[in-house]
Amino acid sequence: MTRMLTPILPAAVLVIIMLLQFQAIDSRTLDSKPVTYRVGDEFGWDLTIDMQSWTRGKNFHAGDILVFVYDSQSFDVALVNQTGFDTCTVNDGAKVLDSGKNKIQLAFGANYFIDSVASVCAGGMKMAINATAPPPSL
Ligand SMILES: *[C@@H]1O[C@H](CO)[C@@H](O)[C@H](O)[C@H]1NC(C)=O
Ligand SMILES: *[C@@H]1O[C@H](CO)[C@@H](O)[C@H](O)[C@H]1NC(C)=O
Repeated sequence: MTRMLTPILPAAVLVIIMLLQFQAIDSRTLDSKPVTYRVGDEFGWDLTIDMQSWTRGKNFHAGDILVFVYDSQSFDVALVNQTGFDTCTVNDGAKVLDSGKNKIQLAFGANYFIDSVASVCAGGMKMAINATAPPPSL
């Protein structure tokens, strides 16, 4: 048994080393590609969690994609400016999406999202994201 395994083991080690190398290349490539986030993870764009807390610890870059998944009977997504965000109102020129699933690409700098209903927005469905420049591609 041991004698039969001996020639196989070095080959297995080689395969593992090769796999690890591919993994390293993969994660390096991913760093320079836009990242897609599902807003709120399993909860979605919802009142279950404070949406701003979902952004904590994440490093958003311009070009990253946010996927808003929500109950379109109850909620929507308004892309507002800072005034709209601060006051929970939909400013003139804001875009309101209400299909229940929207993909939005982050612009460089500040991006503000609220629910268009002031009480819902004030209840936690508001989120400000400052997207920095994308990392340089390799
Ligand atoms: C937001 O938009 C409204 C309406 O166009 C405008 O009056 C307000 O000054 C804007 N706020 C900011 C911070 O740009
Ligand atoms: C966004 O982040 C950058 C880098 O940290 C900072 O210089 C800039 O003032 C921020 N912008 C906003 C609108 O918060």
